[in-house]
Amino acid sequence: MAVILLSLLNFFFLLQRVFAQSAANSGTNFSCFSDSPVSCETYVSYRARSPDLMNIGNISDLFGVSRLSIVNANNLPSDEAKLRQNQILLIPITCSCNGSSFFSNVTYRIKAGDSLYSVSINTFQNLTDYHDVQEMNPLLIPNRLKVGMQVVFPLLCRCLSKELEEQGLKYLITYVWQPGNVLLAVSSAFNASPVDFLKENNYRNLSDAVCLPLLMPVTKLPINLSSLGDLHMTRRLNLIIAILGSAGAFVILSALLVYIHRLYVKRRLLEPNVSYTEFFESKGGTIEPQLFKSNLLLKVSGCLDNPIIFDEKAIKEATMNLSDKHRIGRSVYKATIDGEVFAVKKVKDATEEIKILQRLNHANLVKLMGISFWNDEDCFLVYEYAENGSLDNMLFSSTPSSSSSMAFLTWTQRLDIALDVANGLQYMHEHSQPSIVHMDIRASNILLNSNLKAKISNFYSARPATCAKQLKEDVFAFGVILLELFSGRKVMQQSKNGETVIEWDQMRELLEVDEKRVERLEKWMDQNLQGLYPTDSALSILHLANACTLDIYLARPTMTEIVFNLSFLRQSSSEMYEGSWMSGIEPVESSETFSPIIAR
Ligand SMILES: *[C@@H]1O[C@H](CO)[C@@H](O)[C@H](O)[C@H]1NC(C)=O
Ligand SMILES: *[C@@H]1O[C@H](CO)[C@@H](O)[C@H](O)[C@H]1NC(C)=O
Ligand SMILES: *[C@@H]1O[C@H](CO)[C@@H](O)[C@H](O)[C@H]1NC(C)=O
Ligand SMILES: *[C@@H]1O[C@H](CO)[C@@H](O)[C@H](O)[C@H]1NC(C)=O
Ligand SMILES: *[C@@H]1O[C@H](CO)[C@@H](O)[C@H](O)[C@H]1NC(C)=O
Ligand SMILES: *[C@@H]1O[C@H](CO)[C@@H](O)[C@H](O)[C@H]1NC(C)=O
Ligand SMILES: *[C@@H]1O[C@H](CO)[C@@H](O)[C@H](O)[C@H]1NC(C)=O
Repeated sequence: MAVILLSLLNFFFLLQRVFAQSAANSGTNFSCFSDSPVSCETYVSYRARSPDLMNIGNISDLFGVSRLSIVNANNLPSDEAKLRQNQILLIPITCSCNGSSFFSNVTYRIKAGDSLYSVSINTFQNLTDYHDVQEMNPLLIPNRLKVGMQVVFPLLCRCLSKELEEQGLKYLITYVWQPGNVLLAVSSAFNASPVDFLKENNYRNLSDAVCLPLLMPVTKLPINLSSLGDLHMTRRLNLIIAILGSAGAFVILSALLVYIHRLYVKRRLLEPNVSYTEFFESKGGTIEPQLFKSNLLLKVSGCLDNPIIFDEKAIKEATMNLSDKHRIGRSVYKATIDGEVFAVKKVKDATEEIKILQRLNHANLVKLMGISFWNDEDCFLVYEYAENGSLDNMLFSSTPSSSSSMAFLTWTQRLDIALDVANGLQYMHEHSQPSIVHMDIRASNILLNSNLKAKISNFYSARPATCAKQLKEDVFAFGVILLELFSGRKVMQQSKNGETVIEWDQMRELLEVDEKRVERLEKWMDQNLQGLYPTDSALSILHLANACTLDIYLARPTMTEIVFNLSFLRQSSSEMYEGSWMSGIEPVESSETFSPIIAR
């Protein structure tokens, strides 16, 4: 129930985005991209249709795939299963890049009365583009096909980019948009986020996409698509949505919810087999009390794309009622729910943090997995769990030998951590709209997962940047992280009278005085490194940290420059310390590009 509600609310916010972006309407992009895989396994959705395509055997023959693979993908009891007219099936295909676009070639044997066009739009149900069929078969004369001839039909598909994979997506399923389809209904049938769906389709105008193939990004295969089979929503709904897009008040939103609710209830009476009904039935047939029960719910719901609502009881149970045994931070607990480990944080006002986290999605930012409502004021934020705890524990913990996973970090591991944090910050500063500043970057807010991948956490103070100075405050804090990471000491300390004292002297002196620099550097660096690091690179790190912490904020580098420099250091380190696996970069050229920052 709550999920549907949230999706609806979410949908409202999304519309504003769609309208804002409708200028950039360029349709769904099936092109290959720079880091595309050559091929991948994915799915197209196909409707069982009479007269000939009403059994698994005929459909698997058409696509040239095994019956079993269709049975498995669709959770069917057997390959003899009876199909309903228009029942949607997922057909497994191999999607490959022909050099410019992704296709899945299907060879079709021409029957009497077929034309390339009719096969494209009827037999393959518009999963292919007729023009591509002609291009792929240049020697064929479309109106002189002979029965029995084999013709290749390229179905449109696309593989996932690395970035989408990191966001947890599993497949882009090709789905042909149907007349009467409604965004919310379709995306929820696929268990996909409507926002992601619009994004993958370039925010195209869905009314213009009828009978065209679109890409549905999913995190797992949908279990039951039957709700889509014949679900046609009325035009009136579309009209209301249009009004919503331009107006934009919660009043109207609530009206819409009530309206949709009535619509579903009515549909339920007419047509008992609508999947959403259970949501309403389970709450005694009304949604209004649920809707307005929690202010918090209303406040946060607009920001959650793909919200998972965790049962509050499950969290209490998983943390033994917030027992100290499970405590891993001040108000953070480790919780194992359904076999998966999470970190849960009890917060008073989650709205801001959720809003921020919802806009951000990056492998180096801790991921919000869901939320749970405790009461009207408190709630739990459920995050991915980082097995190796926080960076400050790793660096400053007094008993590092107590477990083998707490072994000391090597030079390359430290560089990787620095680069991870820098990448996360760069993403927040440069790639989010608007820029987001974290405002509380410190070692205790950097978490390390089992592979020592660093994730920035604690977005309590994060907010959209209002001026350039704020960005440079994060840069300053990053400089401090660099110093701590490589010296193994706390650089920023609270003095007795509560002031924050930063111990610069040694670092500044190292850079300014030439005499015995290498010896002094050795002393300054974390002794646990046992001298196993390239001296030049270590000095470069110090220069970088120095630049980040300059008093004049304008003189501090941007996160992009920092990432660039660290990437370069990382590459040259791997050449030195792990053999040369990266040969694309000319050291001379790059060190020249590096020098401007050293000079800062
Ligand atoms: C489609 O994506 C490719 C690769 O990302 C890009 O080069 C191309 O410009 C895009 N085409 C359109 C029409 O957006
Ligand atoms: C399967 O295809 C054959 C001919 O291609 C047709 O005669 C038969 O009726 C089809 N079966 C079903 C159940 O659609
Ligand atoms: C599909 O078939 C066409 C024509 O036979 C061929 O030119 C093309 O390379 C094939 N594409 C893929 C991705 O296999
Ligand atoms: C890939 O297929 C598209 C569409 O048929 C065609 O325009 C393009 O030239 C093909 N590219 C290559 C490298 O074959
Ligand atoms: C494919 O698209 C055409 C219009 O482009 C439409 O007339 C036809 O009904 C569609 N086919 C199917 C199976 O939906
Ligand atoms: C979407 O397309 C429909 C039909 O072509 C059109 O009436 C509508 O104005 C378009 N909407 C937007 C936001 O461009
Ligand atoms: C799918 O959902 C429909 C109702 O929406 C139900 O009748 C059907 O049994 C479900 N199928 C599976 C395989 O769960």
